[in-house]
Amino acid sequence: MKKKKRIAILASGNGSNAECIIRHFEHHEEIEVALVLTNRAQAYVLKRAEKLGVEAHYFPKADWASGEAVLQLFRERGIDFVVLAGFLAYIPPTLLKPYVGRMVNIHPSLLPKHGGKGMYGDRVHEAVLESDDTESGITIHYTNEQYDAGAVILQAKCPVLADDTPDSLASRVHALEYEHYPRTVELLVSKLKD
Ligand code: GRF
Repeated sequence: MKKKKRIAILASGNGSNAECIIRHFEHHEEIEVALVLTNRAQAYVLKRAEKLGVEAHYFPKADWASGEAVLQLFRERGIDFVVLAGFLAYIPPTLLKPYVGRMVNIHPSLLPKHGGKGMYGDRVHEAVLESDDTESGITIHYTNEQYDAGAVILQAKCPVLADDTPDSLASRVHALEYEHYPRTVELLVSKLKD
């Protein structure tokens, strides 16, 4: 039987996208989520991974700054593709270089609007509401050495409503993420060469 392609998910917090992706590949014949890593010891994503039976680890700040220990684990586990899902630490070149074109991120706005360092979570939705934007959405893009700046793979839009709060906009955007992120990752991973 052909070896399955193996995904690692990096997440810093709640991990609802991570869970959605893990579930998407649960019975997949060619792709599996093999690893979940976080930079926050208390991240709820660790509990989700445990419940779903996926190996998960916390690595402290220094390990994310150097990238060596994470890269070694990726190599030991044969990780083919890396998915950032609400991951808030910088990806060092050590980790990025071996995965150029094989590492993607999702951002909860229509980049280049409302992106960059420090723009995450509710801050993004607050910025959208403070602007005159009539639509928001998601951007799935390749990871590069700058925050939220890699080549765009997919964008999907939703309306911004007059009575929106950061929470109501966030849930509309989250729904788009759950709809598109697992399928986009599947498409990209299935195109990888053996
Ligand atoms: C998502 O909105 C994602 O776009 C952003 O961080 C959020 C993570 O949410 N990068 P969750 O942890 O997957 O629930």
